[in-house]
This record gives sequence, structure tokens and C-alpha cells, in this order.
Amino acid sequence: MPNTRALHKRPHPQHVAIIMDGNGRWAQRRGLPRLAGHAKGVERLRGVLRACPDLGVTHLTLYAFSTENWKRSTDEVSGLMRLFRRYIKKESARLARDGVRVRFIGNRHRLDDDLQKMMGWLEQLTAENTALNVTVAIDYGGRDEILRAVRRAAAAGVDPDTLDEAGLSAYMDTAGLPDPDLVLRTSGEVRVSNFLLWQAAYAEYDFLDICWPDFTAEVLADCVARFSARERRFGAATA
Ligand code: IPE
Ligand code: IPE
Ligand code: MG
Repeated sequence: MPNTRALHKRPHPQHVAIIMDGNGRWAQRRGLPRLAGHAKGVERLRGVLRACPDLGVTHLTLYAFSTENWKRSTDEVSGLMRLFRRYIKKESARLARDGVRVRFIGNRHRLDDDLQKMMGWLEQLTAENTALNVTVAIDYGGRDEILRAVRRAAAAGVDPDTLDEAGLSAYMDTAGLPDPDLVLRTSGEVRVSNFLLWQAAYAEYDFLDICWPDFTAEVLADCVARFSARERRFGAATA
């Protein structure tokens, strides 16, 4: 286990966002169907969530399904939706008990009604929790989110001449949440794939070669330690 006391003294990421990629390849390499990789990926969440408080991580955002993922086969899409339903059913009591607050970002209304209801129910059930803030991005795309935020601001009659960055942030799905400090992506792909385009403007990135079903609490601790060794400048001159 990491030395958490030492870690808290160094700058650590309070908000970690993860592009959980590589489930399909993990399964294919083992001769399994892609959905077996997704199921294994979901299993990884419990350990990762449990590790966050000790690492000083108060916010965790998880990319579960992108606006582009609708392009996949109907079998894979419905399998993923089944896994989301099963996760909410199976984990809601534990999440509530462990003090985890769950929120969802994304388009939402394109999902099946029953799944939308389950998501709203879990958000309500955990609304008062404070130990860890988990945000799940489902049917989420950064460009789609920015577009919807601009539309909402316009519909609310916001004066474009006075709209500033904080003003537009208030219309994003992530309103009220801090920006991510660290964005992780598994699977070896080095791209953003439409994730948190607005919020990650100054995030640190870490791209890992392992696939998401192989991600553990120890891997997360390593990423946090690497983050702590980095110098963030936010545009200022080097020291
Ligand atoms: C990530 O794993 C999960 C989702 C996008 C839903 P992938 O399914 O993209 O796995 P690879 O990239 O094909 O290996
Ligand atoms: C990004 O992974 C989306 C999620 C992890 C949910 P993808 O596998 O969909 O991204 P691309 O297609 O490789 O860019
Ligand atoms: Mg992928």
C-alpha cells in the first residue's frame, strides 16, 4: 500500500478522470467475446473506488459510453446497457453505505427510459454523500456537452457579451464539479476521444499500456505518485 501520509503532503490529484479503454482487446486476446471484457472492466470499479479516499482523490470521473459508441453493433450496445443496469442494481446499496455520491453526465434522454430512471434514482439515493464523488459519463461527448451548454445558456437569455468561462461552465453537465487534475487512459491509445474537452484544458494526462480490465488500485496509486512528481505551470514561466 502507498504511504498515504507522505502522499497527502505532496500535491496530489483531487479529481482523477479515466478513459476506461481496452475491454474489447483484453477479451479478444483471451479468445473471449468483447462483452466478457466489459464485464471484467465493471468488476474493476469496486477496488478503484475503494482506493480513492486513501489517495486523497475526492472526485473520480469515469468514461463509460461515448456519443460515438452508438456506432457499435446492437449486441454490444445492448450488452453494455445491461451491464450498466446490473451495476446500479448490484452496487447501489454498497455505494450508499460507503458514502459515495454518484452523478451522471451526458445526453441521458437517448438511453432507455428504465435506465434513465435507475440513474436518477441512484443520484437521489446518494445525493447527500460526501466521501467520494463519482461522475459517470454515459452517452457523453465533450463537443455534444459544449453544444448543449451553449444552447441552454442561449435559451436562458444569457447576454453573450457578459458570458465568461465560469458562466458557461455553469451550463455544462459538470456544473459545480472541479476540473480534473489528472486524466488517465488505458489501452495504449494516445487520444482524448471527445472526453471532457472543456474541463480538461489544464489537466495532466497519463496514458497507460495496460487494458482497463487489468487496472488495479496499485496502478492508480502509481499514477497518483507520477502526478505528484510533475510540475504544473498553468502558463507561468518555469521556476
Ligand atoms: C472501452 O473498451 C469500453 C467502451 C468504449 C464502452 P473498448 O470496448 O473500446 O475496448 P477496445 O478499445 O475495443 O479494446
Ligand atoms: C473511448 O473509447 C470511450 C470510452 C472509453 C467509453 P473508444 O474505444 O470508444 O475510443 P476510440 O474509438 O478508440 O477513439
Ligand atoms: Mg476502445
